[in-house]
Amino acid sequence: MGHWVGTFRPVIDSDPTTYWDSRANLYRAPAIAYLVLDANPNSWSIYDLGAFSQTLMLAATARGVQSVPSYELVKYPAIVRNALGMPADKVVAMGIALGYEKPEKPLNQFRTDRVATPQVLHIIN
Ligand SMILES: Cc1cc2nc3c(=O)[nH]c(=O)nc-3n(C[C@H](O)[C@H](O)[C@H](O)COP(=O)(O)O)c2cc1C
Repeated sequence: MGHWVGTFRPVIDSDPTTYWDSRANLYRAPAIAYLVLDANPNSWSIYDLGAFSQTLMLAATARGVQSVPSYELVKYPAIVRNALGMPADKVVAMGIALGYEKPEKPLNQFRTDRVATPQVLHIIN
């Protein structure tokens, strides 16, 4: 995450108005998927939810829909719960904004890099 912030920062600084405006307005997304767990989720549930999130985003991508998983969408969970009529014992775990990017916007042209495969994959014979 530290590396991501470092590489994304110059992009933010090149157009801070758009970045902060986008964040403050829930990325101006036409739809947001809220992923919800029961209270006190165990590690397996959190693992499952992460896997589900990835599948949801891949399915969206396959349909030409872009996605942004973001803490910004869940940082005021009481407001989300209230707006969606969600029971108090549910945890608003993550939000994924869904929509169609404007490819000409520099913010949308940013692509994260990846560490070299050998840094994360160790094959033991
Ligand atoms: C759990 C989670 C929370 C995130 N929260 C934010 C956020 O609050 N603000 C933001 O700008 N990006 C946030 N991101 C990062 C972006 O949504 C995105 O995942 C990141 O740019 C990596 O993009 P990539 O899938 O192209 O590698 C978050 C990502 C994850 C996985």
